[in-house]
Amino acid sequence: MDAPNKEFALAGSLEELKAKGRLVVHGSHRPILVIYDRGRVFALDNRCPHMGFPLERGSVEDGILTCHWHHARFDLESGCTFDLWADDVPICPVEVRNGDVWVKTAFGHADPAAHWRQRLADGLAHDLGLVIAKAVHGQLAADVPRADIVRQVALFGAENRDGWGVGLTILTALANLLPTLPEEEAFLALFHGARRVAADCDGEAPRRERAPLASRPDPAALKRWLRRWTHVRHREAAERTLLTGIAAGLSPAVLADALLAAETERVFADTGHSLDFINKAFECLDLIGWEHAPAVLPTVVGQMVAARGAEESTAWRQPVDLVALCDEGASQLPQLFAAGRGVRGWSDHAPLARELLGDDPAKIIDALKAAIRAGAAPADLSRSLAYAAALRVARFGNANEHTDWETAHHVFTYANAVDQMLKRIGSASPDGHGAAVRGVLHGAMALYLTRYLNVPPARIPGEGGDQLDELPADAEMIRAALLDAFDRQRQVDLAARLVARHLTLGHSPQALIATLARALLREDAGFHAYQMLEAGVRQSAAWGDTGEGRHILIAVARYLAAHSPTERAALQTADIARRWMRGSELHQEAGSS
Ligand code: FES
Repeated sequence: MDAPNKEFALAGSLEELKAKGRLVVHGSHRPILVIYDRGRVFALDNRCPHMGFPLERGSVEDGILTCHWHHARFDLESGCTFDLWADDVPICPVEVRNGDVWVKTAFGHADPAAHWRQRLADGLAHDLGLVIAKAVHGQLAADVPRADIVRQVALFGAENRDGWGVGLTILTALANLLPTLPEEEAFLALFHGARRVAADCDGEAPRRERAPLASRPDPAALKRWLRRWTHVRHREAAERTLLTGIAAGLSPAVLADALLAAETERVFADTGHSLDFINKAFECLDLIGWEHAPAVLPTVVGQMVAARGAEESTAWRQPVDLVALCDEGASQLPQLFAAGRGVRGWSDHAPLARELLGDDPAKIIDALKAAIRAGAAPADLSRSLAYAAALRVARFGNANEHTDWETAHHVFTYANAVDQMLKRIGSASPDGHGAAVRGVLHGAMALYLTRYLNVPPARIPGEGGDQLDELPADAEMIRAALLDAFDRQRQVDLAARLVARHLTLGHSPQALIATLARALLREDAGFHAYQMLEAGVRQSAAWGDTGEGRHILIAVARYLAAHSPTERAALQTADIARRWMRGSELHQEAGSS
């Protein structure tokens, strides 16, 4: 007898199916479960969409199939689940011809990209990690551009939470790294970003839009107003002012200048997170398109106006009034930049960084002033600051408390955010750099306050006659050893040595960065670890193949090693989804037991 067509496979006779109640069709395709129930024949993927256990072991009652393992329940006819955490089970066409049962062996969707886009929306809406992982995998398999997936998740996050959060920061940081990531790591990056956005939005009230003003004041006025409303914590006024600037078509650079000026009304607000979130919102729009600015950019305002500044902290007031030092320095910035204008060729980034690591705050401010007079641009100052902050991490003494890693981390990611914002602003500031460059002064004082973290300093490997000769020389062996180090606790120094070895031998920084990303993406990483890797990659790229670039990646490796390994639960979810999507039989042995 002929098959209905080549895509169909014979499951058995209808009589046999009636007698047994269910049959499983195996082959090169995924296993298919055929069920006879109350006069009708149904065919489904035999792998439970939850964790892949065989549904043939399940029970059928009243048109409902219940999986034997975690008791997820499915509508037999449609495959749709009653238990959202388990996901829907795919069904396939089944035909009875001349007493035989034939099933179509190919599962599919008429428009896979649209199907998986909807599933991603469902997974985000209900915070379903497994559904999110499958939907990301499905979209990538359907050749949906990575940036499109980032856009879907980012807009969901902006609309379904009253303010920018950790999830959107992680999503943006990982999205920035996507161009450097191989396929597997790109899948994991998008999965982690999406699941963290979903978790942030779970149970939250959606955001309520506000409208721009009907007038179009000039950029300088909008900048002044934004500072004023931030200073008095007037969120609605600040949001409407920002929306007015966006509606007026102000460039990202001018908007960045206004927001950085407003943000630095407070000193090192919320230990730097507030400024970092602002920078990430800008980077998010670079990735998903600036036409989404009205939806995304105002999400940072709530935290910005509510943030607590370090000026309220004793540590910044005694024994030295660091806030007064910053204010005094900031008041001179317009004149200093005017004096330095026209001076070309300032390139003392590394020497300035060393001065920023000094232990006299007045001298640190003086060093910054001298650099400006000598021609340093705002982004030169922030680059030095970011490198100095990376050195703080690279030399972090192992005798510190574990939580002190976060203290070092905060200054580094803050400095990176200031650097990215100042690079974006360039020369776009309509009234000079005075306000925005306060971020550098605040960052320099935050760095000064963390000087105890380097007492005594950890040695940077590969320097001062340290040859690293006990380590392998082959690039792949070094990277394998690095991953092995991340499998064990407290391998901070070994990880640093392996990174130093890799780079001093001239092996590819990109391959090393991909390995660091792999090490991070397999962990249940904290928010800071994602920030650390992304900021480190950006800052090391600015220095290229130099000792400074190497120091920054050593800092990243040391931080990641201090926070590895974790339980890797999210990786297990991603792995189940990946194998399920590839059609693998996940639990054959369990099925045959
Ligand atoms: S409910 Fe089926 S494997 Fe968990």
